[in-house]
Amino acid sequence: MIRKRVAILISGRGSNMAALIAAGKAPAFPAEIVLVLSNRPEAAGLAVARAEGVTTVVIDHSSFADREGFERAMQAVLDGQKVELVCLAGFMRRLTPWFVGRWQGRMINIHPALLPAFKGLDTHARALAAGVKVHGASVHFVVPDVDSGPLIAQGAVEVRDDDTAETLAARVLAIEHRIYPTALALLASGRVKLVDGRCRIEGSYPTGSSLIVPDGVDCSTPSDNRGAPP
Ligand code: GRF
Repeated sequence: MIRKRVAILISGRGSNMAALIAAGKAPAFPAEIVLVLSNRPEAAGLAVARAEGVTTVVIDHSSFADREGFERAMQAVLDGQKVELVCLAGFMRRLTPWFVGRWQGRMINIHPALLPAFKGLDTHARALAAGVKVHGASVHFVVPDVDSGPLIAQGAVEVRDDDTAETLAARVLAIEHRIYPTALALLASGRVKLVDGRCRIEGSYPTGSSLIVPDGVDCSTPSDNRGAPP
């Protein structure tokens, strides 16, 4: 099997990066993580990547006069490492249409909300304030608009009455660490493609659905009650 060469772009903690690196260590995984690139020298994820034997590069955005210069420097490193796919994992820089265009269909991002709800920052606090009962995470193709590209995978968690932004974030993060490697495997194996601005996924899905309600609540549907007296 030819494995795709993947770079992960980070700015901070790097827990999603660690999940991708761990997945990439399995010989059957269709992608290998060849590079971790950070725009922040102090990103904690850099040490984690090094400890895992992954090459790291820092390109400090603050030492460039403009976004284009910063992105050209990143592009040169990605080219040098013969990178085929890019995963953004907590990468906190807006990318220009030029860079996004270079990686169209080959660059994905993870966002801690069920897009298109709660784009941007502070997603967990905003989900709690909105009173949603289901929250989660999304992996999507990167397009010039932030948090807006075609969705590849989503994972949901229930929102509990006593949740704080922190407890909710922890449950969502556990889901992130599951869906990001899954989405990367789909892309790297060619089962997922960006076609005419939409995400095409080869294969069928399990049927079924989830209801998010407290334990013990009767949610039988009218069709379950067919024949029952009105
Ligand atoms: C994650 O919640 C991710 O969804 C968002 O930024 C956070 C990064 O966390 N884009 P980590 O650095 O992967 O731990």
